Order: sequence, then structure tokens, then C-alpha cells
Amino acid sequence: MSTPRVLSGIQPTADSFHLGNYLGALRQWVALQDDHEAFYCVVDLHAITVEQAPELLRRRTKLATAQLLAMGVDPERSALFVQSHVREHSELAWILSCITGFGEAGRMTQFKDKSTKQGSAATSVGLFTYPILQAADILLYTPSPGEHAPPFQVPVGEDQRQHLELTRTLAQRFNHRYGDTFVVPEAYILKNTAKITDLQEPTAKMSKSASSPAGIVDVMEAPGPLRKKFMRAVTDTGTEIKADLEGKPGITNLLAIMAALDHSNVPELEQRYAGQGYGQLKKDLAELVMDTFTPIRERTEALLADDRQLEAILAQGAGKARGVAAQTMEVVRDRVGFLGRAG
Ligand code: AMP
Ligand code: TRP
Repeated sequence: MSTPRVLSGIQPTADSFHLGNYLGALRQWVALQDDHEAFYCVVDLHAITVEQAPELLRRRTKLATAQLLAMGVDPERSALFVQSHVREHSELAWILSCITGFGEAGRMTQFKDKSTKQGSAATSVGLFTYPILQAADILLYTPSPGEHAPPFQVPVGEDQRQHLELTRTLAQRFNHRYGDTFVVPEAYILKNTAKITDLQEPTAKMSKSASSPAGIVDVMEAPGPLRKKFMRAVTDTGTEIKADLEGKPGITNLLAIMAALDHSNVPELEQRYAGQGYGQLKKDLAELVMDTFTPIRERTEALLADDRQLEAILAQGAGKARGVAAQTMEVVRDRVGFLGRAG
């Protein structure tokens, strides 16, 4: 069996990744490199499904790359690249869009939420077909299908599960219609960190678009504001430090974050904090998050100071990715019935 593969992507649409991105997805990107052939992509084509200022998009694409490197994505082992550098993403997205039902695409809850919020006049067709482009991102990097196919996994947070289901459906439909072409990928979602919630609104997902500044913790955040955000995190009535998703969503979220960062578990933390107040937990948690994010922030800043190096890393990543994507597309074009080009 060949090496298992993993692919994931993240949009360059903020000035920093946040704690939900880090615990829900990016930390797994780093860990999975050890025993997977990994493809990690900064999805700028997805970013333009909503309007982006061109210079800002360019800057954030570099910033996203630098943060991923600073977190430990290793360009020698993994292909780290920018989506628009590999043209095959757009090409496969078109083909997959032709086997996707209109109603099927219309059922995607992220699209429904975003388009409702924006209003239909401001909603692009690209936002509607966004999950199909995501399916293309993934399926381009399929291992060879067949009896000995290795696992093919996609590390993401819970909010991407539905998009992954669509990807699986499209892979199966393509295979059925045109012959075995894609390994059907699996979502790799860690239960304990699948949904980190907003510090001010602990029943809602921490989100760059929906959270207030006080509710979201950025990787690039300075230590002072970061500590303040944890100290002011909304907690629940009562004083006991105990996980209870229904009754104590605030404390439950803080415990989940702490367990993930110090590699303990919630029952162990409940014991450790027995008899202590919310303030102590918040203070310790702020320190722990700072210890994790400070080196990442410092490395990101150093990496951003060397444009040439970033560009070289991305060129190398795009080269690796393109090699695989081009091979997949040759098979796909042939299966679909496109006439081969002589020469
Ligand atoms: P986004 O910020 O929506 O581009 O998400 C990038 C990655 O982070 C995706 O894999 C998401 O599923 C994951 N993610 C985003 N927000 C959270 C959150 N609050 N908790 C866990 N994972 C998240
Ligand atoms: N839609 C994903 C998000 O918002 C980003 C993404 C694009 C992605 N292409 C992908 C995630 C491929 C995993 C695999 O987070």
C-alpha cells in the first residue's frame, strides 16, 4: 500500500488565523505530516467568492503561508502551495459542477447562511459553487484508487463536514459514471476540538466573520489583549469548574481549549481545579495560550520579513502539487471523453 495522503485548505481572508482554526484544523495538519504525504493549500480562489481588495488578498496570502510555516508545516515534507498556482483546481471544479445537482448545491448550509446574511444581490455564483471547488481541491490529490488504495483524509473542523459529504458523493458519482478514478476521502475531525466557541457567546462557533473582537482569539494577537480576552470570557452562573455543555457552555469551552493545549483531558482538569474559582482557570489558560502563540507569532513575523524565501517555498510546493494534479487531470479528461491533444 502506498503512503496515506492528506489534503486540506484554508482561506487567506483575515489578518490572523484564530484559536478555532488552530485547534480545529491546523494543529492536525502539522501532526499528520509525520506519517502522511500531505498537500496543504492556501485557497485564494475560494477567497474571491466574496469581494477582496487585490493588494490585501496578496498580503494575506503571504501571511497565511507564513503562519502555517510558523506552526510547523514543513515544506520539505509537505506540499505547501497557493491554490491559484495550480490551474487544475479550476478545471476540475468545472467538470464536477457538471455532475452536481442544482438542488444538491442549494442545500449547503454555509451557503444558505452566508447568502441570507448578504442578501441575494450581493451573493455571487462563485459562493454557490464554492463547495464544488473544494471537492476539486481534494479530489485532485487522490491516491491511486483500487483494492490497495491507501486512506485519504481531510483534516477540518466540524463546520466542514457537510462539504466533505458532498465531496464524497461527487467522488462516488464520478467513479460510478466514468470508472474508478477517485479514492473517496474521509473527513478527519477530532471530536474534542471540532467546534471551539466564541469567548463572548459560548454557544456559537468562534468565527472570523461572525465573532466580535472580544470573542475571537487570534494567533497573531499581542499578549496584553489576549490575556484580557480570557479574563473577560463569558462564564456561567455558579462557581464550580465542571464541563456541562447545556448548563455551562462557557466553562466547557475553556476546559476543552485547556485540555487540547496541555494534552490532558477534561475530567483531569475538573479534578485539578476542584475548589478553585473561574478566575484561576482563566488566568492559567491565558498563559497557556500565550506560550503556544508567542513563538508562532514571532516566527511568522520573521518569515514575513523574507519575501524571497516565502516565494521560493510556495514555488516548490506548487511544483509538487502540480505534478500530482496534472496526472489526475489527464485521467479525468480521458474518462469524461475529451479528445486528447496531439503533441
Ligand atoms: P475558516 O476560518 O472557516 O476558513 O476555517 C479554516 C479551518 O478551521 C476549517 O477546517 C474549519 O473547519 C476550522 N475551524 C474554523 N472555525 C473553527 C472553530 N471555531 N472550531 C473548530 N474548527 C474551526
Ligand atoms: N472551505 C474550507 C473552510 O472554509 C476551506 C477549504 C477550501 C478546504 N478547500 C478545501 C478545506 C479543501 C479542506 C479541503 O475552511
